[in-house]
Amino acid sequence: MPESTILIVDDEPANVFLLESVIARLSRYRTHSTTDSRQVSALAREVRPDLILLDLSMPFMDGFAVMEALRAEQPAGMYLPILVLTADVTSQTRRRALASGANDFLTKPFEHEEVMLRCKNLLATRDLHLALQDQNAVLEESVRQRTCDLERTLAELRATQSQQVQQERLRALGEMSGGIAHDLNNHLTVMVGYTELLLVNDAQMLSNRPMARHYLQTVRAAAQDSSAVVARLREFGRRREAAEVFLPLNLPRLVQEAALRTQPKWRTQARAAGRTINVRLELSPLPDVAGNPDELREVVANLIFNAVDAMPHGGDVTLRTRRAGEGAVAFEVADTGIGMTEEVQRRCLEPFFTTKNETGAGLGLSVAYGIVKRHDGNLDILSELGHGTTVSVRLPLAGAATGRGQAPALAAGARPDRALRVLLVEDDPKVSELVGEYLRLDRHEVVGATNGREGLEKFGAGAFDLGVTDLALEGMSGEQLAAAVKARAAGCPVILLTGLADTVLDRGEQPAGFDVILRKPILPDDLRRAMAQVAGKTTPPAAAA
Ligand SMILES: Nc1ncnc2c1ncn2[C@@H]1O[C@H](COP(=O)(O)OP(=O)(O)OP(=O)(O)O)[C@@H](O)[C@H]1O
Ligand SMILES: [Mg+2]
Repeated sequence: MPESTILIVDDEPANVFLLESVIARLSRYRTHSTTDSRQVSALAREVRPDLILLDLSMPFMDGFAVMEALRAEQPAGMYLPILVLTADVTSQTRRRALASGANDFLTKPFEHEEVMLRCKNLLATRDLHLALQDQNAVLEESVRQRTCDLERTLAELRATQSQQVQQERLRALGEMSGGIAHDLNNHLTVMVGYTELLLVNDAQMLSNRPMARHYLQTVRAAAQDSSAVVARLREFGRRREAAEVFLPLNLPRLVQEAALRTQPKWRTQARAAGRTINVRLELSPLPDVAGNPDELREVVANLIFNAVDAMPHGGDVTLRTRRAGEGAVAFEVADTGIGMTEEVQRRCLEPFFTTKNETGAGLGLSVAYGIVKRHDGNLDILSELGHGTTVSVRLPLAGAATGRGQAPALAAGARPDRALRVLLVEDDPKVSELVGEYLRLDRHEVVGATNGREGLEKFGAGAFDLGVTDLALEGMSGEQLAAAVKARAAGCPVILLTGLADTVLDRGEQPAGFDVILRKPILPDDLRRAMAQVAGKTTPPAAAA
C-alpha cells in the first residue's frame, strides 16, 4: 500500500510537534505541517494530503476560513477528510465545524490512542473512496466501450437493413418487369402474328371479309389488353389528377353493387366447380365518402375474387361496412379460406406477386392498394393460416377528403354538335395520321403541324375552334404552345394528348393551359367525348340559346 500524507495545521508549534511524534509511530504515514494557516491552500496543492488535522482558533485565518478556502478549490466528488482539533467543545462549535466540512473532532488535550484511531479511520474511509472512484472510472470506460460497440452494431444493422430493402425493391422490380414482359409479349405475339397473316397473303385474306374482320378484331382486342396492362401499371402510386372527379358515394350501396356484379364468379362458377360460397352482407348505413365509384367497385371486386379463390372447398364471404373513428368509414371483406403464410402476407401487395400460377396476374391487391391510397385511405390485411383472411379498407368521409376535382365527367357517347376546325400538333407521324383520321371520320377539318412553332404559325394564319397537342415537342413544349394559343384566342380550348401524362402528373406538375388531358392510346370515342366537353366553350351565346 502507498504511504498516506497527513497535513497538520496548528498555530501552536508544541501541538504540531506532539501530533507529528504520535503519527510517526504509525507506519506508512508521512506528515507535513504548518503553523501559518494562510499557507494551507498552497501547501495542500503542493503535498496533496490524504488527511488534514486542522486547529480551529488561529490568527489571520481560523479553521473555518481554511475549510472554506479548501472546499472552494476541491474538485467535485473528491473526498479529503478534515479532522478538527479544538479545545472548544460546545455543541455550537461542533455543528458549525461540521457544516463547514469537518469530518471528525479531536478534543485538546489529545489522547495518543484517540489521535491514531481517528486518523486511521478517516484514512481508511478515504482509501475506500479512492478505490470506489477507480472502480467507477473502470465502469465508465467499459460502458463507453459498450456504447461504442452498440452504436457500431446498430450502424451495421441499419446498413444491412437498407441493403435488404434495396434488394427487395430490385427483386420486386425484376418480378414486375418479368410480369409485364410476359403479358405484353403474349399480346404482341397475337398482334404481330395476325397482321403478318393478313399481309403475307393479302389478296386471299382480304377478299375473305369475315376472316379478315375476325383477325382485325383479334388484333384490336390484344392491343386493348396491352393498353390495360399499361393502365394497371399506372395505378401504382399514381397521384390523383386535379381534374379527376371524386363524387359523394354511398359505400354500403357500392359494396352491394360489387357483390352483385361478381355473382357469376362466386355463385355460378363456384357451383359449377361443386363448391358453395355464401356471401353475407352486413352493411350498416354510413355517411358518404368521396371517391371514384368505378375504381372503388374494382377494389371490392378484387377482394371478393381473392376471397373466393382462397376457399377451394367453399365457405363464407362477409362484406361489412362500418364507421372507423372520427371522419372515416371502412368496408371489410372477410373469408373463411386458407389464409396466408407469413411470406404471402409480407409480399401480397407486390405487383405481380401471385401464388396462383397461370390463373393469377398478381395485380388484384396491388391495384386495390394503389386505388385506396389515391383515395387517402388505408388497406389492412389480417390473416390466419387455415382460418381465413379479412381485408379492411378505411376511407375518409366526403367532407374530410382533400383536393377533390370539380370538373364534370365526360358524357359517354357525347360528340360535338358541329364540324370543327382543329389544329393538330403531334411530332409522331403515325399518331398524327391516326388522330387526323379520327377527326376526319367525324367530318372535322384538320390542320396538322409537327412542332410547336409550326403549330403557332398555322394557328395565327387561320381561325380554329380547337387545338389538340402533344406535350413533349421539339423547340416549344405543348404547354408553351397552349399558353401562346390562349394568349391569342382566350376562348379556344386546347386538348392535351400525351403518353407522358402519368409521369408528369406523378411529379405533381399539372400542365397549365389545357382544358382536358387525354392519355395515349386513345380511341375515337375518347376524343369525341373530350371534344364535346370543351367545344361548348366556343359556341357563341346566341347560338347556344
Ligand atoms: N383472401 C385471401 N386469402 C388468402 N390469400 C390471399 C387472399 N388475397 C390475396 N391472397 C394472396 O395474395 C396473392 C396476391 O393477390 P392479388 O390479388 O394481388 O393477385 P392474384 O389474386 O394472385 O392475381 P389477380 O388478382 O391479378 O388475378 C394471391 O396470389 C394470394 O396468394
Ligand atoms: Mg386477386
